[in-house]
Amino acid sequence: MQFPASFINNKALAGYFERDKKILPEHEKKDSVKMGIRDIIDELAAEGSITRRQVTRLLKECGAKDREYLASKAREVREKWYGKDVYIRGLIEFTSYCRNDCYYCGLRCSNEKAERYRLSERDTLGCCREGYALGFRTFVLQGGEDPFFGRDALSRLISSIKKNHPDCAVTLSFGEHPKEAYKEWFDAGADRYLLRHETANEIHYRFLHPEWQKLQDRKKCLWNLKEIGYQVGSGFMVGSPGQNINSLIDDLEFLEGLQPEMVGIGPFIPHRDTPFAGEDHGRSELTLMLLSIIRLMFPRVLLPATTALATISEDGRERGLLAGANVVMPNLSPVSVRGKYSLYDNKICTGEEAAEALSSLKKRLKGIGFNVVVARGDFKRN
Ligand code: 5AD
Repeated sequence: MQFPASFINNKALAGYFERDKKILPEHEKKDSVKMGIRDIIDELAAEGSITRRQVTRLLKECGAKDREYLASKAREVREKWYGKDVYIRGLIEFTSYCRNDCYYCGLRCSNEKAERYRLSERDTLGCCREGYALGFRTFVLQGGEDPFFGRDALSRLISSIKKNHPDCAVTLSFGEHPKEAYKEWFDAGADRYLLRHETANEIHYRFLHPEWQKLQDRKKCLWNLKEIGYQVGSGFMVGSPGQNINSLIDDLEFLEGLQPEMVGIGPFIPHRDTPFAGEDHGRSELTLMLLSIIRLMFPRVLLPATTALATISEDGRERGLLAGANVVMPNLSPVSVRGKYSLYDNKICTGEEAAEALSSLKKRLKGIGFNVVVARGDFKRN
């Protein structure tokens, strides 16, 4: 496995590898140095736990055949819980305004070139209506942290969606807010919340965000969401600048503690108008391995094959599902605004209407043995 140079030779991250080698909470079982790679994969598949040293060995030593073996184990576990079903989520990007300034994201407030828009309530409800007719039973309202949507405006929107479509789940993906706001939206009917932690490592978090954005705040939000009763999704980008094996293990360890119902991971892809414009994108192979590892660590987790993965490789969605993912999130935003929700360069944004996109997706997935189902697709608790 080759990692980009920025992964390892990053001066700002000196000392990173030498930190305490804390093992994942479960246990350190055998001396993994003596185990073969396949044995590590078998043990991970059987027990769902892995040590820091084992993760390191997997990420560094797996060849193409081992990666396929890892994926096959992840598929087995996915099938045990979800069969061949693929859940679809209709993604509605309702605002591209953002008060944050994440160095990797095209929507950062310092990006003056970003074209900003907000959907009206009417437009968003229209997207849901169209999505419902196509078979979507989860709507994901995703937006930058746009202060225009105060608690009330978003509560009203959530209530209206739930009133029109009581059999659907509403997922929010709207960043960091006070616990009271999360509670209000939950009471208005929101079921799930996506908030990637982005990286669980303090030094790495500093490297990706301005000083005033704090990892601690992010984590607190995730715990608050859990406490309120949301099905919670977290996750991280793969191959973001400054990432290394240790930070990835921190990510897995953080997820292990949080026990999220959903995990979103996808490759980092540079955006031309950000400080990371010149960086390499994250690798598909590494993303796929991490998808498989996450499936094995969290057998029932709802795990999307992300748009970012499909952006860097033409068959990314299929490969993601074959590595253990079980969710896809097609875009339901009005075609007229899609180009403006530009998190990274070349984000897939065909002029295709949702209906066409969905029918071609269904065909492609059927071709590899998966069925897109009409269902809310909640986390299986038992
Ligand atoms: N490349 C890949 N993913 C990105 N995101 C933001 N910017 C990028 C990028 N340049 C992801 C973040 C965020 C999610 C909505 O999109 O992980 O949580």
